[in-house]
Amino acid sequence: MAETVPLLALDRVSAGYGPTRVLFDVSLEVNPGETVTLVGRNGAGRSTLVKAIAGRVARQGSIRLSGEEIGGLRAFEVARRGVAYVPENREIFADLTVEENLVLGAPVGKERGAMEGFAWSIAQSYALFPRLGERAKAPAGVLSGGEQQMLAFARALMGCPRLLLVDEPTEGLSPLMVQLIAETLVTLRDAGLSILLVEQKLDIALDIAARAYVLGHGSIVFAGSPSELRSCESIRRAWIEV
Ligand SMILES: Nc1ncnc2c1ncn2[C@@H]1O[C@H](COP(=O)(O)OP(=O)(O)OP(=O)(O)O)[C@@H](O)[C@H]1O
Ligand SMILES: [Mg+2]
Repeated sequence: MAETVPLLALDRVSAGYGPTRVLFDVSLEVNPGETVTLVGRNGAGRSTLVKAIAGRVARQGSIRLSGEEIGGLRAFEVARRGVAYVPENREIFADLTVEENLVLGAPVGKERGAMEGFAWSIAQSYALFPRLGERAKAPAGVLSGGEQQMLAFARALMGCPRLLLVDEPTEGLSPLMVQLIAETLVTLRDAGLSILLVEQKLDIALDIAARAYVLGHGSIVFAGSPSELRSCESIRRAWIEV
């Protein structure tokens, strides 16, 4: 039987900022169509790991996408390979309208349709988030935090990604918005999108994901199923709960 090639495979990845090392020999995988969560305490290095995959920080070690090395690529090249990134701070263009932000996320020229990704359009963005359709002509800067998060998601999807990296999408949102973002992730997961999710709210993360990794001080300290992590109190107490 042929073995499935992981969509994303990190092998002993290290990264940091200048002389400060933050990640130490991190290995992890996301299989095609799988939602994987990465959890850990504040400062554990979760955002740095996602940035390392997205090409936003200098990194060593191997990062493969469907078997192809992408560890040496720059951020825009990683994006062109179909890795979409919803950053912690959303990176919305405040002076552009909602629709203009979405257009900027779409592939251009030769990239258009070149990827076997998750087909996506502005109309689908508005179907998924009706609120964005209502605010299509509004400057993105006037949107609420929750609406900006919807826009960050929709813009990432406009690139027709093979893999969606999401960094703490529910942070700072109202309970209602947290629920909406969680439901969105479930919708995307069920549509077959591959997702690597950093999420501080453990229950949400473990409800959505098929597998979980725990990052502690820049190293993977646990890898397993959500039910294993739920029942492993020592790991949770040592590396997740405050
Ligand atoms: N641009 C940067 N320059 C220098 N150090 C940084 C930078 N960004 C993060 N760090 C440091 O790297 C470590 C890991 O930060 P990171 O943002 O990856 O953690 P995290 O797990 O995402 O936590 P949180 O989201 O709660 O901040 C921290 O010690 C942080 O201070
Ligand atoms: Mg972070």
